Amino acid sequence: MIRDLGDGLVLRAATAADGDTLAAFVGDVLRVQDGDEPNRHLAAWTRDLQQARHPSFRPGDTTLVTDTRTGAIASCLHLISQTWTYGGVPIGVGQPELIGTRPAYRGRGLVRAQFDVVHGWSAERGHRMQAIAGIPWFYRQFGYELAIERGGGPRVRRDALGPLPLPPPGWRVRPATVEDAPLLAEQSATADARGLVSVPRDAALWRYELAGHSADSAPRREVRILERDGEPAGYVASGIEAFGGALVVTAFEVRPGVSWREAWTAALAPLFEAGDALAAGTPAGRCIALSFWLLGRDHPLYRVVHFQERDDGYALYARVSDVPAFLRAVTPALERRLAVSACAGHTGSLTLGFYRAGVRLAFERGKVTAIEPWTVDVDVRGIEFGRPSSDPRRPLAMFPDLTFLQLLYGFRALAEIEAAFPDCIVRTGEARALLEALFPKAPSSVWPMV
Ligand SMILES: CC(C)(COP(=O)(O)OP(=O)(O)OC[C@H]1O[C@@H](n2cnc3c(N)ncnc32)[C@H](O)[C@@H]1OP(=O)(O)O)[C@@H](O)C(=O)NCCC(=O)NCCS
Repeated sequence: MIRDLGDGLVLRAATAADGDTLAAFVGDVLRVQDGDEPNRHLAAWTRDLQQARHPSFRPGDTTLVTDTRTGAIASCLHLISQTWTYGGVPIGVGQPELIGTRPAYRGRGLVRAQFDVVHGWSAERGHRMQAIAGIPWFYRQFGYELAIERGGGPRVRRDALGPLPLPPPGWRVRPATVEDAPLLAEQSATADARGLVSVPRDAALWRYELAGHSADSAPRREVRILERDGEPAGYVASGIEAFGGALVVTAFEVRPGVSWREAWTAALAPLFEAGDALAAGTPAGRCIALSFWLLGRDHPLYRVVHFQERDDGYALYARVSDVPAFLRAVTPALERRLAVSACAGHTGSLTLGFYRAGVRLAFERGKVTAIEPWTVDVDVRGIEFGRPSSDPRRPLAMFPDLTFLQLLYGFRALAEIEAAFPDCIVRTGEARALLEALFPKAPSSVWPMV
């Protein structure tokens, strides 16, 4: 037992023996909105995790609250450890997932108590940040901000396309096998390099994606290799559910030197065929659209295909409990960005105030020489108007709450944050130039390794 929560409830880590009960619990509690049926895809995912199939997850990485009077599970949370990259720098990430509380136990702080525990585990594992793909607002209560791009890509309706094109000569599409893992690792690295935040997959992780998930598990993808003249020319990945008759395409990549336009034409018919297979037996009956939502706001495909429809983007939650430590860890990425900006070779210091906390960055000829915690001195004279000041105890830029994370992850441009939050204030032109150089708005493509 980790903690006695009183009233007959205890918080403990799961063991392999909890697997089936947990899977049934998750399937029941995390059904789709207003759903009548348990969610078999999330149940299968939970079972996979509890069977220790995932390369960096063990049953003990789950917290459970059980009711000792009945032995039943009241609430659960899974912490999935991964390595992501930020500007090409590897970063340890803990992703809390599959979080749910049975209705009779809600609003009693059971999820809050589990976050207390897993945030401690995550820190012990050296994670620099935590991330969640989660429901609106709720996770803000535990120190999270919606700060990393998720979704916002286009969709294509079948009826807008007319007859599907034949593949260009020499093209063929086939299912990927584990033998393709090294090739997929090489090609996904090209895709990862386009995003500020990415989740790199080496051949071993690709083997897990191809053969590690059980057939029904929510994160499983169907991966297909695009071949031209018998040679691999790219790949396309899609989800295992047809939501509202739409096949969700989660990755689309083409080797350097290969035509994106040809790859697109080659992939269309096989994707609708795959969608038809998934949509059979659902109310839609057949695949009525391809959704590229998860490809995000920017993707090479959008430059060769004119998409007319787009669904609004959402965001991943991020939590960074120690901003100075995070910035220190990604110093190479910061220095690279500075070097290609108009502030290249900068010498000076940048103080950022988060109202209750802050950080100071020091630069010497374009190199970072210090990144340290910094706090606003409350003894300064007079009212804060955000105007230029010769008093170095005032921060050069101010960000309310966790809004700095939106800038850090390239989710919003500085000007967008200033427009949305009047108490986001940049005091000097130099601070503005530095912030824009270090933290430009940038696309991210995060396919978590879950
Ligand atoms: C969302 C859910 C996990 C919350 O579980 P819970 O055990 O009630 O959460 P907690 O009691 O620890 O919540 C912490 C606080 O948020 C409040 N809260 C609970 N659900 C909330 C919600 N949906 N929105 C906003 N606040 C909520 C609680 O009252 C509590 O407030 P307090 O700190 O002032 O006492 C639960 O409602 C659930 O299982 N929902 C269905 C499945 C789901 O959506 N899971 C999340 C998928 S990402």
